[in-house]
Amino acid sequence: MNKVVFVCLGNICRSPMAEFIMKALDQDGSLHIESRATSSWEHGNPVHQGTQKILRKYGVSFDSSKGSQQISQSDFEFFDLIVGMDESNVEDLLQVSAGRYDDKIKLFRPGGVPDPWYTGDFEETYNLVTAACQDWLQWIRDRPVSYTHLTLPTKRIV
Ligand code: 4NP
Repeated sequence: MNKVVFVCLGNICRSPMAEFIMKALDQDGSLHIESRATSSWEHGNPVHQGTQKILRKYGVSFDSSKGSQQISQSDFEFFDLIVGMDESNVEDLLQVSAGRYDDKIKLFRPGGVPDPWYTGDFEETYNLVTAACQDWLQWIRDRPVSYTHLTLPTKRIV
Protein backbone atom coordinates (compact mmCIF):
# COMPACT_ATOMS: atom_id res chain seq x y z
CA MET A 1 0.00 0.00 0.00
CA ASN A 2 2.36 2.75 -1.13
CA LYS A 3 0.86 4.38 -4.20
CA VAL A 4 -1.48 7.19 -3.24
CA VAL A 5 -3.37 9.69 -5.36
CA PHE A 6 -5.31 12.64 -3.98
CA VAL A 7 -8.22 13.77 -6.11
CA CYS A 8 -10.28 16.97 -6.15
CA LEU A 9 -12.43 18.73 -8.71
CA GLY A 10 -9.84 20.88 -10.46
CA ASN A 11 -6.44 19.52 -9.28
CA ILE A 12 -5.18 23.04 -8.74
CA CYS A 13 -6.11 23.83 -5.09
CA ARG A 14 -6.72 20.98 -2.61
CA SER A 15 -5.30 17.79 -4.10
CA PRO A 16 -1.94 19.29 -5.12
CA MET A 17 -1.73 20.80 -1.63
CA ALA A 18 -2.27 17.30 -0.17
CA GLU A 19 0.25 15.83 -2.64
CA PHE A 20 3.05 18.20 -1.64
CA ILE A 21 2.30 18.18 2.09
CA MET A 22 2.21 14.36 2.06
CA LYS A 23 5.52 14.25 0.17
CA ALA A 24 7.04 16.55 2.80
CA LEU A 25 5.73 14.34 5.63
CA ASP A 26 6.93 11.14 3.93
CA GLN A 27 10.53 11.93 4.74
CA ASP A 28 11.99 8.59 3.73
CA GLY A 29 10.23 8.77 0.36
CA SER A 30 8.62 5.36 0.80
CA LEU A 31 5.38 6.43 -0.87
CA HIS A 32 4.52 7.21 -4.46
CA ILE A 33 2.26 10.25 -4.19
CA GLU A 34 0.45 12.13 -6.94
CA SER A 35 -2.73 14.16 -7.40
CA ARG A 36 -5.46 14.34 -10.03
CA ALA A 37 -8.76 16.03 -10.94
CA THR A 38 -12.15 14.44 -11.43
CA SER A 39 -12.82 17.04 -14.15
CA SER A 40 -10.82 18.24 -17.16
CA TRP A 41 -11.77 21.87 -16.44
CA GLU A 42 -8.31 23.01 -15.42
CA HIS A 43 -6.37 20.61 -17.65
CA GLY A 44 -2.70 21.64 -17.84
CA ASN A 45 -3.16 24.65 -15.57
CA PRO A 46 -0.64 25.28 -12.78
CA VAL A 47 -1.20 24.93 -9.05
CA HIS A 48 -3.45 27.80 -7.87
CA GLN A 49 -1.60 30.88 -6.62
CA GLY A 50 -3.36 30.56 -3.24
CA THR A 51 -2.03 27.02 -2.78
CA GLN A 52 1.44 28.05 -3.97
CA LYS A 53 1.45 30.98 -1.53
CA ILE A 54 0.44 28.93 1.50
CA LEU A 55 2.95 26.16 0.68
CA ARG A 56 5.71 28.78 0.44
CA LYS A 57 4.54 30.35 3.71
CA TYR A 58 4.94 27.03 5.55
CA GLY A 59 8.13 25.97 3.75
CA VAL A 60 6.58 23.04 1.88
CA SER A 61 8.41 22.50 -1.40
CA PHE A 62 6.35 21.86 -4.51
CA ASP A 63 6.74 21.28 -8.23
CA SER A 64 5.82 24.59 -9.83
CA SER A 65 5.67 22.90 -13.24
CA LYS A 66 2.85 20.57 -12.17
CA GLY A 67 -0.22 20.93 -14.39
CA SER A 68 -3.74 19.77 -13.65
CA GLN A 69 -4.42 16.24 -14.86
CA GLN A 70 -7.71 14.37 -14.95
CA ILE A 71 -7.72 10.91 -13.37
CA SER A 72 -7.56 8.11 -15.95
CA GLN A 73 -8.48 4.43 -16.09
CA SER A 74 -4.82 3.49 -15.75
CA ASP A 75 -4.64 5.60 -12.58
CA PHE A 76 -7.46 3.54 -11.09
CA GLU A 77 -5.39 0.43 -11.85
CA PHE A 78 -2.06 1.82 -10.71
CA PHE A 79 -2.80 3.47 -7.37
CA ASP A 80 -3.46 1.51 -4.17
CA LEU A 81 -5.34 4.37 -2.54
CA ILE A 82 -7.52 6.91 -4.35
CA VAL A 83 -8.45 9.65 -1.91
CA GLY A 84 -11.22 12.13 -2.74
CA MET A 85 -10.87 15.51 -1.04
CA ASP A 86 -14.63 15.85 -0.45
CA GLU A 87 -17.80 13.78 -0.66
CA SER A 88 -18.66 14.90 -4.16
CA ASN A 89 -15.18 13.91 -5.38
CA VAL A 90 -15.73 10.47 -3.81
CA GLU A 91 -19.16 10.19 -5.48
CA ASP A 92 -17.63 11.06 -8.87
CA LEU A 93 -14.79 8.57 -8.36
CA LEU A 94 -17.22 5.80 -7.40
CA GLN A 95 -19.26 6.54 -10.49
CA VAL A 96 -16.23 6.15 -12.77
CA SER A 97 -15.04 3.10 -10.86
CA ALA A 98 -18.43 1.43 -11.40
CA GLY A 99 -17.66 -1.20 -8.78
CA ARG A 100 -14.21 -2.13 -10.10
CA TYR A 101 -12.01 -0.10 -7.75
CA ASP A 102 -14.41 0.86 -4.96
CA ASP A 103 -12.16 -0.65 -2.25
CA LYS A 104 -9.39 1.81 -3.12
CA ILE A 105 -11.58 4.91 -2.96
CA LYS A 106 -11.63 6.79 0.36
CA LEU A 107 -12.78 10.15 1.71
CA PHE A 108 -9.81 12.33 2.76
CA ARG A 109 -11.38 13.34 6.07
CA PRO A 110 -14.85 13.25 7.62
CA GLY A 111 -16.74 16.23 6.20
CA GLY A 112 -14.19 16.63 3.40
CA VAL A 113 -12.09 19.73 2.75
CA PRO A 114 -14.10 22.86 1.82
CA ASP A 115 -13.00 24.11 -1.59
CA PRO A 116 -10.82 27.24 -1.29
CA TRP A 117 -11.70 27.99 -4.92
CA TYR A 118 -15.02 29.10 -3.40
CA THR A 119 -14.10 29.94 0.23
CA GLY A 120 -10.83 31.75 -0.55
CA ASP A 121 -9.54 30.45 2.81
CA PHE A 122 -6.31 28.67 1.92
CA GLU A 123 -5.16 28.83 5.54
CA GLU A 124 -8.11 26.66 6.57
CA THR A 125 -7.33 24.31 3.69
CA TYR A 126 -3.71 24.06 4.78
CA ASN A 127 -4.63 23.25 8.40
CA LEU A 128 -7.20 20.60 7.45
CA VAL A 129 -4.97 19.04 4.80
CA THR A 130 -1.91 18.90 7.06
CA ALA A 131 -3.78 17.24 9.94
CA ALA A 132 -5.43 14.68 7.67
CA CYS A 133 -2.18 13.90 5.81
CA GLN A 134 -0.55 13.09 9.15
CA ASP A 135 -3.42 10.69 9.88
CA TRP A 136 -3.14 9.11 6.41
CA LEU A 137 0.58 8.59 6.78
CA GLN A 138 0.00 6.73 10.03
CA TRP A 139 -2.88 4.75 8.50
CA ILE A 140 -0.69 3.67 5.57
CA ARG A 141 2.26 2.78 7.79
CA ASP A 142 -0.04 0.55 9.83
CA ARG A 143 -0.85 -1.33 6.59
CA PRO A 144 2.47 -1.94 4.86
CA VAL A 145 1.18 -4.65 2.53
CA SER A 146 -1.50 -4.17 -0.09
CA TYR A 147 -3.90 -7.09 -0.20
CA THR A 148 -5.98 -5.54 -2.96
CA HIS A 149 -4.32 -7.48 -5.79
CA LEU A 150 -3.36 -10.64 -4.00
CA THR A 151 -5.24 -13.78 -4.92
CA LEU A 152 -5.34 -16.93 -2.90
CA PRO A 153 -3.54 -19.91 -4.44
CA THR A 154 -5.94 -22.31 -6.07
CA LYS A 155 -3.48 -25.20 -6.23
CA ARG A 156 -1.68 -26.76 -3.36
CA ILE A 157 2.05 -26.67 -3.84
CA VAL A 158 3.71 -29.91 -2.69
P1 4NP B 1 -9.90 22.21 -6.46
O1 4NP B 1 -10.63 23.64 -6.65
O2 4NP B 1 -10.92 21.16 -6.83
O3 4NP B 1 -9.54 22.16 -5.01
O4 4NP B 1 -8.69 22.22 -7.38
C1 4NP B 1 -11.27 24.02 -7.82
C2 4NP B 1 -10.53 24.45 -8.90
C3 4NP B 1 -11.19 24.87 -10.06
C4 4NP B 1 -12.56 24.85 -10.11
C5 4NP B 1 -13.31 24.43 -9.03
C6 4NP B 1 -12.66 24.00 -7.89
N1 4NP B 1 -13.22 25.30 -11.29
O5 4NP B 1 -14.46 25.47 -11.25
O6 4NP B 1 -12.58 25.48 -12.32
